[in-house]
Amino acid sequence: MSISLIGKSIGESATLKLNETFAILKAKGEPVIHLGGGEPKSRAPFDAITTAAGLLNSGEIRYAPVDGTIEMKQAIIRYTLDNYKVKVNPENVIASSGAKQAIMVAMQAILNPQDEVIFMAPYYVSYFDMTKLCGAIPVPVKAEDGTFHPTLKDIEQNVTSYTKLIIINNPNNPTGAVYSSEFISDIVKFCEKKGIYLMMDEIYHKLVFDGIKVPNPYDYVSKDFETSKLILINGVSKVYAMTGFRIGWAVANKKLIKVMSNIQGHQTSGPSILLQKAAVGALNGIQSPIESLRCTLENNRNVLMEQLKTIDGLKIEVPQATFYSFIDFSAYYKDSTQLSKILLDKVRVLTVPGIEFGAEGFLRISFCGSIKDITEGIARIKWVIDPESANELFIGQRKLVRERN
Ligand SMILES: Cc1ncc(COP(=O)(O)O)c(C=O)c1O
Repeated sequence: MSISLIGKSIGESATLKLNETFAILKAKGEPVIHLGGGEPKSRAPFDAITTAAGLLNSGEIRYAPVDGTIEMKQAIIRYTLDNYKVKVNPENVIASSGAKQAIMVAMQAILNPQDEVIFMAPYYVSYFDMTKLCGAIPVPVKAEDGTFHPTLKDIEQNVTSYTKLIIINNPNNPTGAVYSSEFISDIVKFCEKKGIYLMMDEIYHKLVFDGIKVPNPYDYVSKDFETSKLILINGVSKVYAMTGFRIGWAVANKKLIKVMSNIQGHQTSGPSILLQKAAVGALNGIQSPIESLRCTLENNRNVLMEQLKTIDGLKIEVPQATFYSFIDFSAYYKDSTQLSKILLDKVRVLTVPGIEFGAEGFLRISFCGSIKDITEGIARIKWVIDPESANELFIGQRKLVRERN
């Protein structure tokens, strides 16, 4: 079979594959715990459901404009003004089928083969393969000091004449880190000076803990909006717990948005009109579900941290946002894929190997599930890696007994 070079170079999404594994094991009645998840468990906002139900009942579900309905764009414009203090026009906005598509069409609009795309490691899994889908070259950059907080210097060292785009995911998946205002100010100014596109992926920007504020990149932009190369990505998936609705968006200068719309028009056409309606309902409706989700996640984060502390030897950076923690297990296992497999095979706990995010020796452990899953899941992990823990473990009806050499 003849397959394209790009096709051959693209791997399966590790996180989506994990969801599939979970569903299969669950269907078989296995006592599996998903600590690898990437979606909040709360219900979609009531306003999203009722607004979409209104359109559904009409039976008139047609094509949507390629770059989003007028009311969707108006809702995004208001959201951008409320949260980022910038007033944009409908031509500065495109709604897409998830933030993922907004990122992808922006990349396709910007990148030529051989262009380089810089993003911080650990990184969101898809940046790597999306870059390759454009025939461009992914350049993951680690913080030299070994933390989850890169500096401009770390980035500068990797910039070449081919660097076309820098992606900053703030707050970060998988680490839960929030980058400082100093770093965001540095990177915005640097990209302006060099004429490099800067994509700010802020899909988690309201799921932040401990009173921390996510810096607003527009505070540091000195160029006029239409000449600025800043692209802001957002969506309803995480903040409104609406992952299955597949609505995200980009805000940028109108020339770029036009090219993105042209591309999207030949890919998927406009995002589903029904799901845009739901997203409009969420954006214009009562906002308390966000705070309620944020509080639940902060509490889950605290419980997870307490549980992890009971395992000696782990290196833990407390996540400041999102619903992920990125934990260094290298004192026990250097190979994260092997550890993740052992945890699944032995005690039916799903985690994502750090290597998928560009950092070996780590596991991404999510705290978007229930407190029960978090406590039981970590107890099972402890049982596997800590030889001093109890001899026996019950998972579901099954009793496991430690093998002693
Ligand atoms: C950093 C980041 N960006 C983008 C996305 C994609 O969001 P959506 O589900 O809206 O496509 C995700 C989803 O996990 C993410 O973690």
